[in-house]
Amino acid sequence: MAAEWRTHNPDGSLRVLVTKELPGDRWLKILEAADCRVEVSRSAEVLGHDEIKEHIGSQCDGAIGQLTENWDADLFGALASAGGRAYSNYAVGYDNVDVPGATRHGIPVGNTPGVLTETTAEMAVALTFAAGRRIAEADRFIRGGKYDGWLPTLFMGQRLSGATVGVIGAGRIGAAYARMMVEGHKMNLVYFDPYPNEALERFITDYSTFLVEHGEPSVTCRRLDSIEDVLREADVVSLHTALNENTRHMINTQRLSLMKSDAVLVNSSRGPVIDEAALVDHCRTHPDFTVGLDVFEDEPAMKPGLADLDNVVIVPHIASATVWTRRGMATLAAANVAAVLEGYPLWKRDDVLPFLSGDVPEAAPSIVNAAELGLE
Ligand code: DGY
Repeated sequence: MAAEWRTHNPDGSLRVLVTKELPGDRWLKILEAADCRVEVSRSAEVLGHDEIKEHIGSQCDGAIGQLTENWDADLFGALASAGGRAYSNYAVGYDNVDVPGATRHGIPVGNTPGVLTETTAEMAVALTFAAGRRIAEADRFIRGGKYDGWLPTLFMGQRLSGATVGVIGAGRIGAAYARMMVEGHKMNLVYFDPYPNEALERFITDYSTFLVEHGEPSVTCRRLDSIEDVLREADVVSLHTALNENTRHMINTQRLSLMKSDAVLVNSSRGPVIDEAALVDHCRTHPDFTVGLDVFEDEPAMKPGLADLDNVVIVPHIASATVWTRRGMATLAAANVAAVLEGYPLWKRDDVLPFLSGDVPEAAPSIVNAAELGLE
């Protein structure tokens, strides 16, 4: 069925497509102030490639798309042919975007970093506890009328305080998660990342000194040589890598077999980072192994058997879903597109707060291919 579109500022001279309704209204004001006529799809379903292409039509200056859509070179070709000069993903991740394809067509690609770091890390923390303390399973149990009274062995989970947390991918979100687990729960950190996160390491060293000064045990932070080392050592492993050809199925049968039999595994990055069929098999044969998933390999579908596993806690890709964050993402996506159309400088920064209130800086907050386009 053809998507219905709602038009804002119909007299705007530039035409911008937005493929889903976005929260808040600051984003719309930013586009309207840039003289954009804004057409927003009202469909809750994922728009297909051809449907988007058809709606781009013969004149379209910019677009804001979703991580569920495949923005390939063909779509950027259609956008460029329609006079398009700007695209922003409504997400920090952009594995759904063919960035080299966009670059070939001269189109800057924006993303929305900085507003979802803590929010996403908080969800990873929540999933860690939900899985390790078997919260969803216990909730189903009591709602199912099975609770006959307190028992010494009922729903025994993992003690996280003082245990070892492993982070794979210590970028913005991975580091925020690591700090929450180390600061909040006095866990020791092991991490794998091709690049050392010196700020994180320094923070944990200083925090450890502070703890010792207050008569508490120290905490440690170690960057290990391989993913395997982290999987072997950690009691909890949280995944924070981008999805690319190196990280697809990074967690597979062989690597799962290295993990402790009662470890907690959390994924709030991208589903295909885990071989989900292998995960189902592993969880079936390791009932004390618990998992928290925000993302899935074939989203929105789950691999057969996953939904039946009591040792897996599942939420529908909502790690960034707080009102503040989702409004902030909308503002950044709009600011990316509006700034490109207005010819402002293109930034790639984490400090995006100035865009969220007051006067909008005359710049695009985050354009991932600015350097490739020679526009930095
Ligand atoms: C992202 O931004 O990449 C998340 O997956 C959705 O917020």
